[in-house]
Amino acid sequence: MTQDIVILAAGKGSRMKSAFSKVLHKVGGIAMVRRVLTTASTLENANLHLVVGHQGEQVEANCQDFSANIVWQNDPQGTGDALRRVAPFLQADGATLTLYGDVPLIRASTLQKMTALSNSNTLVLLTISLDNPTGYGRIVRDEQGKVTAIVEQKDASASELAIKEVNTGILLAPNAHLQAWLAALTNNNAQGEYYLTDVIAMAARDGVDIVTVNPENEAEVAGVNDRVQLAALERELQNQQAIRLMQNGATLLDPSRIDVRGELVTGNDVIIDVNCVFEGKVTLGAGVEIGPNCHLKNCTVGDNTIIKSNTLIEDSQVGESCDIGPFARLRPGTQLANKAKIGNFVETKKAIIGEGSKVNHLSYIGDTEMGANVNVGAGTITCNYDGVNKHKTQVADNVFIGSNSSLVAPVQIEEGATIAAGSTITKQVGEKQLAFARARQTNKDNWPRPTKK
Ligand code: UD1
Ligand code: CA
Repeated sequence: MTQDIVILAAGKGSRMKSAFSKVLHKVGGIAMVRRVLTTASTLENANLHLVVGHQGEQVEANCQDFSANIVWQNDPQGTGDALRRVAPFLQADGATLTLYGDVPLIRASTLQKMTALSNSNTLVLLTISLDNPTGYGRIVRDEQGKVTAIVEQKDASASELAIKEVNTGILLAPNAHLQAWLAALTNNNAQGEYYLTDVIAMAARDGVDIVTVNPENEAEVAGVNDRVQLAALERELQNQQAIRLMQNGATLLDPSRIDVRGELVTGNDVIIDVNCVFEGKVTLGAGVEIGPNCHLKNCTVGDNTIIKSNTLIEDSQVGESCDIGPFARLRPGTQLANKAKIGNFVETKKAIIGEGSKVNHLSYIGDTEMGANVNVGAGTITCNYDGVNKHKTQVADNVFIGSNSSLVAPVQIEEGATIAAGSTITKQVGEKQLAFARARQTNKDNWPRPTKK
């Protein structure tokens, strides 16, 4: 069955006290509305409609890649009003699923449970029973337990207010009936709004079956109205992600001290120490060990590589059995072949480093192509920038670069060459040559040290 999915995101979100649309605030590094769009996109034959209003340009600009139908609701008059604006775009048959842009942790599995029950004469409601139902629409049932209506908090009688089962807001209604129901909505209620929830009583009246589904957990249907709720959902999501990583074979030394802001894929026997942050898409091969306080963003790390504490890796590829850190910084465009070693206080950028090569201490290697089994001495710098342009350094296999050398690019060091410590290399060094490029040492005999006057 084709499915229209409407994501409501027109609300003002004033309690966020923000210049940015509420739904663009991030949970787990991803804007809430993008999480909802991503989840919605996993459903079969999904036809996405995004209702925007307050700060709608921002939302539209941030969600373009989903190619959802953007529907403007400039003067929001309730959830029913929002659906009415989408009505002209809904398909004749199929069903319409309504989601909220500020309810980010809804799971595809729950939505699938709903769609499995959907047909042209059935309306599916996602409900939950809460100890404290204050603020939510209440699910009203008859003596047989059939749902007959949803009553909003502000319109509810004392006995209705006592109902613990509430409307999560997520519902799936058959398009064959929905158009007529939406057209019949009025705003004669306590808030003077068009309530989408009024379609429930119309469905009951029209003999449409109303069935309910419950989410797997409460966080799935939790909405964000302020930054306290945003932080609570962030913790919840981090906890869920930590559990999934452990179930997939990663050891987390403290599952409450890891932050995954994006997607982290781990092989078996990955070990992650405390306070690590993973951003964007990060893939860790089997047996990778990550020390405390590391930050990895958009990178892949091959099997059995060890990353020691306080290392930052961005937009880079790291091979297998590498040894990195502590305090290493791999900037974008770094590619380490297997068994490479990057030690403390080493910065790399656009650097291809061959198998088994070592840059162990205090170096900057940028715009460089380096072969295998190269040894780079402490304090070596590639001078890649002349103040205007960047230039490339090429280092072939088996080169030995003495400590505290400067390689002034563009420059080539050929296979098996040796650079004497402290050299400033400005010219090509040929195969197996030794290059000295430093002032010669002179020693003076019996040098009289100056004395204090
Ligand atoms: C709504 C439901 C209520 C349910 C609750 C769950 C109605 C009438 N009530 O109430 O039964 O328990 O959600 O959280 O549907 N929005 C628009 N355009 C509008 C109005 C709202 O896009 O004109 C969006 C908001 O940005 C928000 C969502 O719809 O994302 C819900 O709106 P909100 O005003 O919070 O609804 P509630 O009054 O909480
Ligand atoms: Ca709400």
